[in-house]
Amino acid sequence: MNADPLPSGAVGRLDRDQVVQVLRAAVAAPSLHNSQPWRFGTTASSFEVFADPERGPRICDPDDRAVYLACGAALLNLRLMVSNLGVHPDVRLFPDAADPSHVASVSCRQPAHVDPMTRRLVAAIALRHTYRRPMLDSRVPDLLRAALRDAAREEHAWLVGFPEEQLSQLRTLVGEAHRLQHADPAFVQEWRSWTGRPAGSPDGVPATAAGPLPEQQDVWVLRDFSGGNGVVRAPGRDFESDPYLLCVATFVEGPHAQVQAGAALQRVLLRAAADGVTASFLSQLIEVPSTCRELRRLIGGALRPQVVLRLGYGGQTPATARRPVADVVDFGGPAAG
Ligand SMILES: Cc1cc2nc3c(=O)[nH]c(=O)nc-3n(C[C@H](O)[C@H](O)[C@H](O)COP(=O)(O)O)c2cc1C
Repeated sequence: MNADPLPSGAVGRLDRDQVVQVLRAAVAAPSLHNSQPWRFGTTASSFEVFADPERGPRICDPDDRAVYLACGAALLNLRLMVSNLGVHPDVRLFPDAADPSHVASVSCRQPAHVDPMTRRLVAAIALRHTYRRPMLDSRVPDLLRAALRDAAREEHAWLVGFPEEQLSQLRTLVGEAHRLQHADPAFVQEWRSWTGRPAGSPDGVPATAAGPLPEQQDVWVLRDFSGGNGVVRAPGRDFESDPYLLCVATFVEGPHAQVQAGAALQRVLLRAAADGVTASFLSQLIEVPSTCRELRRLIGGALRPQVVLRLGYGGQTPATARRPVADVVDFGGPAAG
């Protein structure tokens, strides 16, 4: 791996310390099983973002959807931090037609005004953690719901809610997806290899970030990330009766749309975190082709579901660690023209 943990120089208008700040923000993004399927490069004037599909869980994500979603989320964090440092991030998605792993080039040459929402979203980067425990039954206010929809649209994706009459069908689909995945030994083996990790593990999901062990009375089937060592729930601490479920969706499929969906996902998560709202994911619905088809039908047939989220008022949960920046960055590539 890289011997020098810090970049050797500036990137455009950003000095060396600011470059490190930007990269730390980028790697704080969420990724399936905390696989962190990304790499970064720097030139004299730009950050380069690359997908690293070799790191992605192959059984859960054979088509790299989650890889591009994670890269989109990392790209949003990177853009926000560059903006927060008073520089305009000039983004070109997939700048090299011959290299589908080259997700984005972000040039940092122009100064820019910092708006207050950027500051709020940047402050939320370190606060946002996936929250897998029971949430309060308090309703997310309509104003925030509208702000979350706008956040997704700003990144060219759609945030779709589920009307009450669809919830029982959705619950059945989650259960079906869970059952199908756990009947597949290859899935179970991959699942075990990424979950129940010791605290501080540089990738994978640690048991400290898991929810409580599933119980008989649970209406929704949630994934057990604890490696079998999850906490038994205190009496009365059931999951919320009316979870607020949302789907991030796009009109087209493919890496470009998935990177945009990843940026939308992250803008929604940060906007929610800025108002004290936590989130967890129900990706089994998307990963199993038959339930994903049904889900697509539920959201109207035209849109492609990319991520399913559960949002609400949770509490503090320990941060999940990341690989060091030095392990994911190749510093000082060729100077951009
Ligand atoms: C595309 C995608 C799918 C995910 N799917 C799930 C999931 O099904 N269940 C879950 O609990 N977490 C899911 N996560 C959350 C990751 O496990 C989490 O981001 C990672 O462990 C890092 O932890 P953090 O989000 O707390 O920083 C997903 C994240 C992404 C980006």
